[in-house]
Amino acid sequence: MTLHHSIGRDPLEALIKGETLPDLLMARLLDPIYVSAERLAEAASDLTLAIHGNGVLVRGLLEITNICRNGCLYCGIRAGNNSVSRYCLDQQQIMDCCREAYGLGFRTIVMQGGEHPTTDPMVADIVDQITSTLPGCAVTLSLGERPHKVYEMWREAGASRYLLRHETASHYHYSSLHPTGMTLLTRLKCLESLRSLGYQVGTGMMVGSPGQDLRCLLSDLRFIRQFRPEMVGIGPFIPHPATPLGHYPAGSVDTTLRLISIIRLMLPSANIPATTALATLAPDGRRRGILAGANVVMPNISPARVRADYALYSGKACLGAEAAEGLALLADDLNLIGRSIDFSRGDFKPHAPQSFTHQS
Ligand code: 5AD
Repeated sequence: MTLHHSIGRDPLEALIKGETLPDLLMARLLDPIYVSAERLAEAASDLTLAIHGNGVLVRGLLEITNICRNGCLYCGIRAGNNSVSRYCLDQQQIMDCCREAYGLGFRTIVMQGGEHPTTDPMVADIVDQITSTLPGCAVTLSLGERPHKVYEMWREAGASRYLLRHETASHYHYSSLHPTGMTLLTRLKCLESLRSLGYQVGTGMMVGSPGQDLRCLLSDLRFIRQFRPEMVGIGPFIPHPATPLGHYPAGSVDTTLRLISIIRLMLPSANIPATTALATLAPDGRRRGILAGANVVMPNISPARVRADYALYSGKACLGAEAAEGLALLADDLNLIGRSIDFSRGDFKPHAPQSFTHQS
């Protein structure tokens, strides 16, 4: 679509048709003057129901360590934060959590943690143990930037998915959020590496991180359209007081919801969580995320005693329906919007564009 043709067009109609929108129209999708939040969410929600059905996939989130070598300026578990009490679960503790989650019905375990390379071989062992002793259980890893060889070792051990948010697709903005030495280029190389190994790859960004402007978000959307991740995690930035960016305001829930909807319409088959950050900022954040086009929730399955120590931002929701033991609450919550828990593995399934019809 040329710029000339795009002026005066309805950006939502164009996105629904699967057109590649120029930045001008993408920007309008983010602007309530042009497209109401309700219209956008309705289109995304209709599409989600048509493709993914009524069920919302659950993944058990296990925070294996808060030890991290990195100093991301926004993150509460950054190496420079001396006020954190550091922990690293051992193999036995991790397997106990996995077995318990499996018993509750979970069929995906997401092992997330800081960048703590000495645990690399242990992670491989655990992945192998999960996939060989818990039939039908998928393992997703979210352990940051690692050499290709390490990603390969984990893949061979049986991990099938990897979450590594790109955080922002603007090189300049990326550098402003990270310490010297961390670059967007390295992050993108990791994502390519993961893809080449056959992982289902998840990426995504924080919304409203300090210094983010409309151009950054448009770059994010262009990157996501071109990379076509199998999973996309988007949550609002939430300041953590013990970080260099702790005095900045939190990101906008409404913009986060708009972005979920836009990305759902761009990538109908993607698995998109209603993130904990969204549930932390708004009491009904999880439900609103689902109504905006998310199809996944990730209850916390970490041992209760370490959950507070894994504070990437302040006030993290990790109780009630955000926790494994609150599955009944989660089911009730989803029921309010006519949805239910789906305990299946929920691997990425590509859908042919013609396999659904969309009513706008
Ligand atoms: N606010 C919101 N999200 C954060 N993350 C890290 N710190 C924060 C924060 N202060 C997100 C990053 C990271 C994911 C694990 O958590 O996007 O990739």
